[in-house]
Amino acid sequence: MNILLLGSGGREHALAWRMARSPRLSRLHIAPGNPGMDSYGTCYPEIGVTDFAAIAELIRSLAIDLLVVGPEVPLVRGIVDYLRLKEGLTDLLIVGPNQVGAQIEGSKEFSKAFMERHAIPTARYRAFDRSGYYQAVEYLQELRPPYVLKADGLAAGKGVVICETLSEAKHELQLLLSGRFGKASARVIIEEYLSGIECSVFVATDGTDYRILPVAKDYKRIGEGDTGPNTGGMGSVSPVPFADQAFMDKVEERIIRPTIQGLRSEGIDYRGFIFVGLMNVGGDPYVIEYNCRMGDPETESVMLRIDSDFVELLERMARGDLGDYQLEESPQYAATVVLVSEGYPNDYPKGFPISYPHEPAFDSALFHSGTTRDTSGHLVTSGGRVLTASCLGSTLQEALKACYHLAGQVQYEGKALRQDIGQDLLKLL
Ligand code: AMP
Ligand code: GLY
Repeated sequence: MNILLLGSGGREHALAWRMARSPRLSRLHIAPGNPGMDSYGTCYPEIGVTDFAAIAELIRSLAIDLLVVGPEVPLVRGIVDYLRLKEGLTDLLIVGPNQVGAQIEGSKEFSKAFMERHAIPTARYRAFDRSGYYQAVEYLQELRPPYVLKADGLAAGKGVVICETLSEAKHELQLLLSGRFGKASARVIIEEYLSGIECSVFVATDGTDYRILPVAKDYKRIGEGDTGPNTGGMGSVSPVPFADQAFMDKVEERIIRPTIQGLRSEGIDYRGFIFVGLMNVGGDPYVIEYNCRMGDPETESVMLRIDSDFVELLERMARGDLGDYQLEESPQYAATVVLVSEGYPNDYPKGFPISYPHEPAFDSALFHSGTTRDTSGHLVTSGGRVLTASCLGSTLQEALKACYHLAGQVQYEGKALRQDIGQDLLKLL
């Protein structure tokens, strides 16, 4: 298989790391990629993930067999539909849904209505636009605090606002509807607040069959004890102790099966990953959101725990032939600690030289997220999330210890990290 992977974050680095271990991989190409992925394949830093014409050209010139789309933006903008219409690319295998399928993430209203149609448990909601401001306020008055407001469209992970008071909620509603996220918040979802613990379930599907990948939990807030503003994610662990067999049976029966069947019954040929963000409310799962891709930094932990041939999984998803694929999961724990730039998720300086130990052992990895090479070829910081230290261990404690040891060996000015990843789960064990 000649593979082109789109993306440049820790998620894509982890996907590349796992693909590189498959005997089925002939050559890996990554656009745009990052300096950490150099050792697994050829990166094309000049080609962005929404450069559809350049991507089509690259696929042709490199005789790519399989395209794997990492991030949501190209999917929501319709890269799959675009490529399907290109001459000479009809046989291209693609992991990633078409534009209609990507609406499960691209429009929260679409995903809520989909769940309603298929009786999938989620928070009660209503959607409003500017003309419905007064009805929206009335709806807020019917709900109890805290209030959950969501921009309908993609807002780079910042589109959800949780307000403690009604007056704060009305103020946020006004800001959203008057264009805080442009077109993405022209419509706003108001929903009931769900109280519980969250986890991330990843499903690999070929449109008919599916496999549930190792379940993970991420840590979104910047501060220890889950405080402060939301980030792209500060760490993750897998498996998740409270997502036991009884809980996962409910997830499969009430959420995953109806989701896959629902997509099919609506004529959506979904070949790709579905990331289901779940709330465990007193032992019952509720969907917080769907994403049309893998999560970051969950993928970094999840990839460490997949033991079966990952390229075979991708190929069979794209071919519509998942059938008897045997997914093998490592019984070990995986943990990921994200190293960020001081100041993140607000403004932060970049361009600081990075040093780290040589490529770690097989059961651990340093995945790059926000790194680049300066004009002299030195590795420097270039983003808020810089690197992730991801390790396996026979217990959660061991996996975490290994992560913090690895993270401690990385040096750059302004290095910041959360010291409490996984601590809440250790209490549950
Ligand atoms: P999202 O961007 O949809 O992942 O939402 C960001 C975060 O907001 C989620 O991870 C939850 O922690 C929180 N959230 C979203 N919807 C709800 C809800 N209905 N009840 C409670 N928390 C929520
Ligand atoms: N870790 C959450 C996300 O990827 O959206």
